[in-house]
Amino acid sequence: MSTIFYPEIKKKGFSHVLEFAGKTDPAEFAAWYNLHRNEAEAALLESGALLVQGLELDSTESFGAVAGAMEEEFTDYIDISYQRRRLSSNVYISTEYDASFPIKMHNELSYANYWPSRLLFACLIPSATGGETPLADSRAVLRALDPAIVEEYRRKQVRYVRNLHNGQGLGPSWQETFKTNDKALVEQYCQKEAMLWHWKPDGGLKLEAIRPPVRKHPKTGAEVWFSVAELYHPSHFEQEYYEGLLELVNGDEEELPLYASFGDGTKISNETVAAVISTIEQQRKLRTWQQGDLLLVDNMLTSHGRMPYTGQRKIVVYLCK
Ligand SMILES: [Fe+2]
Repeated sequence: MSTIFYPEIKKKGFSHVLEFAGKTDPAEFAAWYNLHRNEAEAALLESGALLVQGLELDSTESFGAVAGAMEEEFTDYIDISYQRRRLSSNVYISTEYDASFPIKMHNELSYANYWPSRLLFACLIPSATGGETPLADSRAVLRALDPAIVEEYRRKQVRYVRNLHNGQGLGPSWQETFKTNDKALVEQYCQKEAMLWHWKPDGGLKLEAIRPPVRKHPKTGAEVWFSVAELYHPSHFEQEYYEGLLELVNGDEEELPLYASFGDGTKISNETVAAVISTIEQQRKLRTWQQGDLLLVDNMLTSHGRMPYTGQRKIVVYLCK
């Protein structure tokens, strides 16, 4: 084993950066990380993201090995709004959503009752153009949002609604979502997740969960904006697509695969949704991926998205407990 190069943690723009001498063996980096965990964590808690450069990361296997050596995996990952492909036992492709559209900013699983504390991304193949993973500081987002909007969200909380069909319909079925045909298992899961469930006469399943839009970081106590209501709300789509969706459910938004209202059932207006999305987008920072980059993101302190791209982009992700 060659000598481990001890890097300094530098603050550069949004994230802290760790630069290793080019082509450092990921196993050597993992050893460094485990010895310097406190330093790395202090940097992560301050800026919300830590970028590691200079690693020889070129395969799902090398990424899976380094990720597993750094952090314990978040395994309770069955109930997802956006399906993603598993590449190996612990590595997923970051969401496969049409390359020509952006993925809007979000904190992973913020609609759920528990979520991964951190996300590890790695760039195996950079895109030809675009494809950045924008990051936004969720503490700064909370400070930047219109106080009247935050006050209403805090007071009423958010109600996340999902309609899962029984095999045919819009969006995913409940069987695909929960990877089972056993209704009792689904009900058990819903209970654990503090979700209300309702089996419909056509065999479909409606889920409702009320969650706070602001949460406290367990380590720093800092309050963060942790709502994804705006992406459950159909008005975030292009106007034509939004109108098409509404037509498919005869104008009843409550019947869409994903929908969000306030906790008391009142509507979140299209204007509010647009204002929240625009505030978050004003806070986001973009950086071009380089092959071998490893990015550790604190999932509560930092939201992420994806810019449109061209070419063969391969960004992989590991969810940390
Ligand atoms: Fe994501």
